[in-house]
Amino acid sequence: MVDIAVIPGDGIGKEIMPEVCNMLKNIDSSLNFYYYDISSERYKRTGKTVTDNEITELKGYKSILFGAIGSPDIKPGIMERNVILKLRRELDLYMNIRPAKSFNKISKNNINITIFRENMEDFYTEISGKVNENREFKKINSIYNYNIKIDGKSSDNIYYNLGILTEKNIKRFFKKAFSLIKNNNITVTDKANAIEMYNFWRKIAVEMAIKENKNIKFEYADALAYNLIIDPGKYESIIAPNLYGDILSDMLSGITGGLGYSPSGNIGDSTSMFEPVHGSAPDIAGKNIANPVASILSASMMLDYIGLNREANIINTSIDYILDKNIIPLESGGVYGTAAIINHIEKESICRLERQGYY
Ligand code: NAI
Ligand code: MG
Repeated sequence: MVDIAVIPGDGIGKEIMPEVCNMLKNIDSSLNFYYYDISSERYKRTGKTVTDNEITELKGYKSILFGAIGSPDIKPGIMERNVILKLRRELDLYMNIRPAKSFNKISKNNINITIFRENMEDFYTEISGKVNENREFKKINSIYNYNIKIDGKSSDNIYYNLGILTEKNIKRFFKKAFSLIKNNNITVTDKANAIEMYNFWRKIAVEMAIKENKNIKFEYADALAYNLIIDPGKYESIIAPNLYGDILSDMLSGITGGLGYSPSGNIGDSTSMFEPVHGSAPDIAGKNIANPVASILSASMMLDYIGLNREANIINTSIDYILDKNIIPLESGGVYGTAAIINHIEKESICRLERQGYY
């Protein structure tokens, strides 16, 4: 038996993820799903985002499936920072893998790129602040045992967020990335020309590449964004700091066919969490029109990660097959809604497993 925690969350996450788990259970009955109601609905009812108890329990799972979080009637950031960013930090999920693959019939581009995004630091450490009502900074932030003291007076309103890279974390991140990358077409991106800390990022990249016997090339994030649009076929693996990784991966979603096709995995040394790149899409939630493929691909990344490689492969091949057979999601101009796409992928997967004598 394999125990998996599920956080459906909000909007289309809540709509899609339980259906995807039912599909997985029908494909492999050894999977057990344990649901956690971490959602905007619960926050509105109880004021709770994620409890300490939930964090402790979630740490006990090898893998977690996450839908999406965020609701238009809650101030932006409350759920996103207190749930997603908190889970990444508390569960020590330091590597974010975001594959961007184009499918025939969905995109004219031929893209098969994976972004390896640093998932804890850069501009996401939440070391932030502003001048107080006396226009003074009086704040000490800490990261690990290091105090960062910001101090001074200003005639203007000032807000800040510090970008931070720490050696231990960036080293383990590159080590993990190089262990996961099987090709030798690796681009490391940053803005070392404008932002000093990325020279440190580069130094560690080179050091770890030599250690792990990998060839890397560097490309500034702005030039890379341009080249990814002009000639995406040139790239296979991209290693990016947190913020650029986030932006570049949404951009790649756009040129591979849409957010509905983009999965991701947040990888740590003990627990990992898999989720579609898209958010809760409140504009289309509850209408059976969202594309579930990103969530299904995230689930198959999870199966791969926990060693159920055959099931993962079958699901991926079934997705290719149904799209080739013109079972096209509404998102891409087809006529198939959420439930219909899940059903077709489930049926095709079970058929293929039966043919292989799996059951
Ligand atoms: P979004 O990804 O939810 O939606 C952006 C656009 O893409 C919308 O027009 C939506 O209808 C469409 N879309 C997204 N997924 C789709 C799918 N599977 N099928 C068809 N169309 C799809 O981003 P948005 O609108 O900026 O954010 C909505 C909420 O989600 C916000 O509260 C935001 O903070 C949150 N969010 C949460 C994330 C997470 O839980 N990991 C990630 C991104 C945003
Ligand atoms: Mg994003």
